[in-house]
Amino acid sequence: MTDVSRRLTATARITVMTGAGVSAASGVPTFRGADGLWKQFRPESLATVEAFARDPKLVWEWYDWRRQKIAACEPNAAHHVLAKWSRRFHHFNLITQNVDGLHERAGTANTIRLHGSIWEVFCWDGCPTSPARWRDETVPQTKIPPACPHCGGLIRPGVVWFGESLDPQVVELATAASDCDIFFTIGTSAVVYPAAGFVDLARRSGAFTVEINPEATPVSSAVDLVLRGSAEALLHQIEEHLV
Ligand code: OAD
Repeated sequence: MTDVSRRLTATARITVMTGAGVSAASGVPTFRGADGLWKQFRPESLATVEAFARDPKLVWEWYDWRRQKIAACEPNAAHHVLAKWSRRFHHFNLITQNVDGLHERAGTANTIRLHGSIWEVFCWDGCPTSPARWRDETVPQTKIPPACPHCGGLIRPGVVWFGESLDPQVVELATAASDCDIFFTIGTSAVVYPAAGFVDLARRSGAFTVEINPEATPVSSAVDLVLRGSAEALLHQIEEHLV
């Protein structure tokens, strides 16, 4: 713990990558745990372009349910510590796979959102009068599926679905951020790429790599230090040891 805290200096380039586990203590369901979303729902029925084309109402009902759940959650100690670091350290980057917006709500600026945001939408038909994407925080939606205010067609959630490519600019930012002095992979099962590959990229750039997770993952054996436990407890402890 003290070793990690000692490495968090004013000049250090610090990068943190988070996954669903960081929001678990807030009450946001993870994807692959015992009560994970992918244990109850089939991703191919709800989180693909084909699923939306087939049944936009069903997909929107699921997203509306998740939005309602998330709207009732508050950022936890893990989000708060990371928000503090984003203000305290000049060379700090946060990469997240989470779409819940809790890092932003805790006050972390410039979050690199790999998988988009559940609070953004865009026109399904890409109508020329609508912006590329915009915020929509209507909870619950007044009409499902909601209509594009610009063309009257469908809008879709601004998240990355299975089989879709990530925004290349976002990947570029995350790749650049992986060149750092200390890299944390926190609360992610590290099975979804390219996110899972950033820790290796960081290691090859010479970074000291740390995993924070109560369970083992495919990257556990490759990182320099494994801290077994919850993000909210361990980040708080690291924060307490900062000089
Ligand atoms: P997962 O649900 O796959 O993994 C959550 C991880 O969090 C697991 O490794 C848990 O052990 C860990 N965990 C649980 N509680 C924790 C806590 N309190 N503190 C720290 N860790 C804890 O979620 P992700 O790795 O984020 O993609 O999943 C990656 C992507 O797969 C998601 O972004 C989503 C999903 O399909 C898209 O939606 C595109």
